[in-house]
Amino acid sequence: MPKKFYVTTPIYYPSGNLHIGHAYTTTLADILKRYKDMQGYETFFLTGSDEHGQKIEQKANEAGLSPMEYLEEKVESFKTLWKALKIDYTKFIRTTDSYHEETVQKIFTMLLEKGFIYEGNYEGLYCVSCEEFLNADQIDENNMCKISNTKLELVKEETYFLKTSLFQDFMENEVLANEFLIPAYRRNEMLNSFVKPELKDLSVTRTSFSWGIPIKENPKHVVYVWLDALTNYITALGYLQNDDSNFKKFWEDENTEILQLAGKEIIRFHSIYWPIILKSLDLRQPTHLLGHGWILSKDTKMSKSLGNVIDPIEMINNYGADALRFYIGYELPTEKDGNFTDELFIESFNAHLANNIGNLISRTNQMITKYFDGFVDTTDVQYDKELTEKGIQTVSQYIKNMDEYKISDAIRNILDLGNACNKYIEEKTPWNLAKEENFSELKNVMATLQRNITIMTYLLKPILVENYEDMIEQIGLKDFELSFEKIINWNEIVFKKLGDKKIIFKRVN
Ligand code: MSP
Repeated sequence: MPKKFYVTTPIYYPSGNLHIGHAYTTTLADILKRYKDMQGYETFFLTGSDEHGQKIEQKANEAGLSPMEYLEEKVESFKTLWKALKIDYTKFIRTTDSYHEETVQKIFTMLLEKGFIYEGNYEGLYCVSCEEFLNADQIDENNMCKISNTKLELVKEETYFLKTSLFQDFMENEVLANEFLIPAYRRNEMLNSFVKPELKDLSVTRTSFSWGIPIKENPKHVVYVWLDALTNYITALGYLQNDDSNFKKFWEDENTEILQLAGKEIIRFHSIYWPIILKSLDLRQPTHLLGHGWILSKDTKMSKSLGNVIDPIEMINNYGADALRFYIGYELPTEKDGNFTDELFIESFNAHLANNIGNLISRTNQMITKYFDGFVDTTDVQYDKELTEKGIQTVSQYIKNMDEYKISDAIRNILDLGNACNKYIEEKTPWNLAKEENFSELKNVMATLQRNITIMTYLLKPILVENYEDMIEQIGLKDFELSFEKIINWNEIVFKKLGDKKIIFKRVN
């Protein structure tokens, strides 16, 4: 039985165009999914769109369209972006899909029948942009939402509540006491800001607008957009539906590694309310929730509501999908906020993709072509001991980091190997070996480089998906000849004559 991996992104609001911030989460998920594929896992990668709620209703009204008309084009633009960014999702869920709406109604009924939901009245300040009732410490001195910087609405309405207060102990001593939420420091944030002060029951229906899933029991209520949205992670797999084979495989099976990704502003929903909903339904918890920081633009969060966004499509058109995937994976480690500007992007591209990797491949290939007519026969080659050792170590460090979802560290391992190879060229001065006609040593050097470039390229496979095939063929191999095991043990791998040379990652000025 292959191991199984289920990875999810938040489902994004189609209240505007997606920006680099959304591309960030989705690319991280895609890199991890592709890595698990390489490790032989059976994978399921879910993303989608969160289409109900007051914000979408307002946006559609402003555009003079019905919500469905408004959504159509936006959702298409999501899919266009994911295609351009080479996102290999397994399924795209829309919360307006009928299977999802029907299942949410069933879930609501189940929670009501189990006694976890009751009727009442709510009064509080609501942020439409975040679709969230706010606590005092989420509001700034001007009575605005600290996250979206927008005005709040005083809402007073009939509502159903989820008895989250019953789960105080469960949250403190189970969910937030174990490894579920990573990085670990975010557990304390959640405990101290939201759980320990007291878990208040969560309002889970709204009555003052209608763009949502009506509950069967009392159709003037629509399901609160977050209960509707969070459950997408299981409705997409077929939970409570005729064909629930994916649900059995990717959720119920305790051996499935379930990884959910979310930005820090929505960790509260994913690490508190979502585990409580699952617990109330008697379902298992995800293995991990990876909460990540924000992409900033001049020190503030990049966001639609703040209007300081960078369009990922523009970046892809200018520099290619791989360049963006690389920047996201390497320069924006998940445990802190990161910056994204054109200058930083170009600087990183030139230093790592053009100079370190691109240049290494092209100069090595030129030498192999010049000195050996494109073919290095490795039958009696002596690989350089130190660099060979470093190559093997790089693979194991990379695997360890990727297994811990530390993509940036894993990429750094690859870049270190690239630097070591470049330094090796400077030290060995192959051009002098050629002059001296020391062809046996020259061959050792070329074979050592070719071997380590193969390792680097293979490890970059989940990141540089557009260029990978070209890179691997240029060094005289085909992808099917490679695996983690093979690049570590280095038997069975036999180079052919180098493939066509293509310039990859040309310096940008
Ligand atoms: N619809 C909800 C999520 C429901 S999930 C059950 C939502 N949507 S959103 O469109 O606002 O997307 C939020 C997510 O987009 C963040 O959690 C994060 O993954 C990503 N990002 C949006 N802006 C971001 C940055 N500036 N930086 C990093 N990620 C950000 O919330």
